[in-house]
Amino acid sequence: MEFIKVTKAYQKHIALIQLNRPKELNALNIQLMEEISESLKELDKDDEVRVVVITGNERAFAAGADIKQMAGKQTIDMWKEDRFTTWDQINKTKKPIIAAVSGFALGGGCELAMTCDMIVASETAQFGQPEIKIGVMPGAGGTQRLTKAIGKVKSMELVLTGKFINAEEALHYGLINKIVPVELYMEEALKLAKEIASMSPLAVQMAKESVKRSFEVPLDEGLQFERKNFYMLFSSEDQKEGMNAFVEKRRADFKGK
Ligand code: HXC
Repeated sequence: MEFIKVTKAYQKHIALIQLNRPKELNALNIQLMEEISESLKELDKDDEVRVVVITGNERAFAAGADIKQMAGKQTIDMWKEDRFTTWDQINKTKKPIIAAVSGFALGGGCELAMTCDMIVASETAQFGQPEIKIGVMPGAGGTQRLTKAIGKVKSMELVLTGKFINAEEALHYGLINKIVPVELYMEEALKLAKEIASMSPLAVQMAKESVKRSFEVPLDEGLQFERKNFYMLFSSEDQKEGMNAFVEKRRADFKGK
């Protein structure tokens, strides 16, 4: 991997993907996105890993797609590149992904954070979809996920003016889970990851799948989907372990079986 670093923590239950193009504020070139997508595919198959954290550095989570790489492109070049396959792959990840955001999360950077399942932000985080300022518009979910997260009028304002919002506003509008001092944002993201990693990974993944389904289908269909996943968990050892541990007043030890 040239543009990301992948490490593991907490008995290898947490995988950390760090974007690593600091000089370019982690601008998302095609290879970097392929690397994220490939590593998530691998991590999804890795039984040890239960939660993934994606982060950048203190100055930037990611300042968007690599403008220098796109500037001279024509429509057909963009079409042939098929860059959104990697984004679709990231969206298919079964394990929960937490974005640990400090500094800029702009354009594709904001879209990447929103493709994750939760966002822990440092107090210096800034979110925005500034594509309008460079003559285009969001292309990796910005008009859709941002609108679903913060509602029409605020999303319209951000997408049409390109202005940024700070962490306080992002929290106020429901875009992020929490704000922490800059020196603690990784620690806080890992704390959240560790908490989720202590649950049954099967239940976590099916719950994630069900929450995500609510964005795609009408309520009744979503409820049916939820019910099936709920029933399915009763064939897991983790369900027996979790419920027996409750009855026996002890801590459950989930194995992901
Ligand atoms: C390529 C980028 C970049 C980007 C920053 N850099 N953002 N390179 N693509 N998106 C580079 C700069 O060119 C510069 O390189 C170095 O990173 C540091 O950036 P500065 O601009 O000098 O830093 P600063 O003055 O602090 O300003 C930070 C900034 C600004 C406000 C974040 O860099 C900025 O506006 N960046 C672009 C944000 C943006 O428009 N994002 C949307 C992209 S389109 P040099 O070599 O000069 O030092 C998009 C579409 C997604 O994301 C569609 C789906 C894929």
